[in-house]
Amino acid sequence: MPADRLRIGLIGAGRIGSLHAVHLATRIPAARLLMVADANEEAARNCAERHALARFSRDYRVVLDSPDIQAVVICSSTDTHARIIEEAARAGKHIFCEKPIALDLPSIDRAIAAVERAGVKLQIGFNRRFDANYRRVRQAVEGEEIGSPHLLHITSRDPSPPPISYIRVSGGLFLDMMIHDFDMARFLIGSEVEEVFTLAGVMVDPAIGEAGDVDTAVVMLRFANGIIATIDNSRRAVYGYDQRVELLGSAGMISTDNNYANSAVISDERGVRRDLPLHFFLERYSESFVAEMAAFVEAVLYDRLVPVCGQDGRVPVVMALAAQRSLEERRPVRLSEIEQGEMG
Ligand SMILES: NC(=O)c1ccc[n+]([C@@H]2O[C@H](COP(=O)([O-])OP(=O)(O)OC[C@H]3O[C@@H](n4cnc5c(N)ncnc54)[C@H](O)[C@@H]3O)[C@@H](O)[C@H]2O)c1
Repeated sequence: MPADRLRIGLIGAGRIGSLHAVHLATRIPAARLLMVADANEEAARNCAERHALARFSRDYRVVLDSPDIQAVVICSSTDTHARIIEEAARAGKHIFCEKPIALDLPSIDRAIAAVERAGVKLQIGFNRRFDANYRRVRQAVEGEEIGSPHLLHITSRDPSPPPISYIRVSGGLFLDMMIHDFDMARFLIGSEVEEVFTLAGVMVDPAIGEAGDVDTAVVMLRFANGIIATIDNSRRAVYGYDQRVELLGSAGMISTDNNYANSAVISDERGVRRDLPLHFFLERYSESFVAEMAAFVEAVLYDRLVPVCGQDGRVPVVMALAAQRSLEERRPVRLSEIEQGEMG
């Protein structure tokens, strides 16, 4: 290991920023969290106090202007990511940024271009790639353990919807929630999607529809190599966070179940039951958040390629925009239509 640990500044200390702060401060020995900025000064101060950081600010530029900071972890709201990536790259900082980079392609392309010009590293927070279950599915595909893949099903349902205030600025179900599953589909199959078709509706809460979004959706995907996939999202599964994958191939099938806090099963005269799955993403994917951040820190310290690059952040946004258009126009949409539309 290089003698020095990676000196990091955190930007955004909300829900996910606080989690990354804990990991950087306590679980990743090669990282040294030095300062935190949040537009909400209280949030910045609380985070600094919790981790005994000498510096905090309400202005993220203070982090970018600090010569001792080598890398930033961007966890502010989605609408700030692209701008902060551009500025951080210009300041010569390596960048970990939460998903999505932005909700439109021109902003994403400007951010990626700034990163390339500056020669810094950019990793996007698609943490599920680091989950043990999904890694095993990917390994089975790579090792041809189930022959050639034919049919992928991704089930991804939240236990309950976020507040309407969040829904309004989230970019909608496809860009906010299903974006993880779009990334997962590409990651598991190792090929690009060419076309999508969406069926979706409002079944959980009419207020979500009034905010202009859907809460229940199935998207069918056709990959360039012919493989077919479905992604099934709901903002509310009453039994908890439902995260499963099934992949059928020419020589077999691989599937992953939900994760549980315990394996106890109660059997009585009425039936057989167990406790609910781990409640939501903070519990279910906690280890994957540690693993993605450790991978980023190592990629910078050892000058390796990051495992989830800017382009990996961009493609799921194209897929989400295509899924949204498919819903609006009630027809299959090719990803190339989105590229042409956004660029032209
Ligand atoms: N990978 C995942 O599973 C995952 C999970 C949750 C959230 N996210 C992403 O992380 C981001 C943050 O989500 P969250 O749930 O933590 O939101 P949040 O609202 O809890 O936190 C966002 C924080 O950013 C701060 N902020 C806003 N603008 C800022 C600015 N200009 N400079 C500094 N701080 C600023 C806010 O004050 C707030 O404290 C979103 O882009 C979201 O999509 C990813």
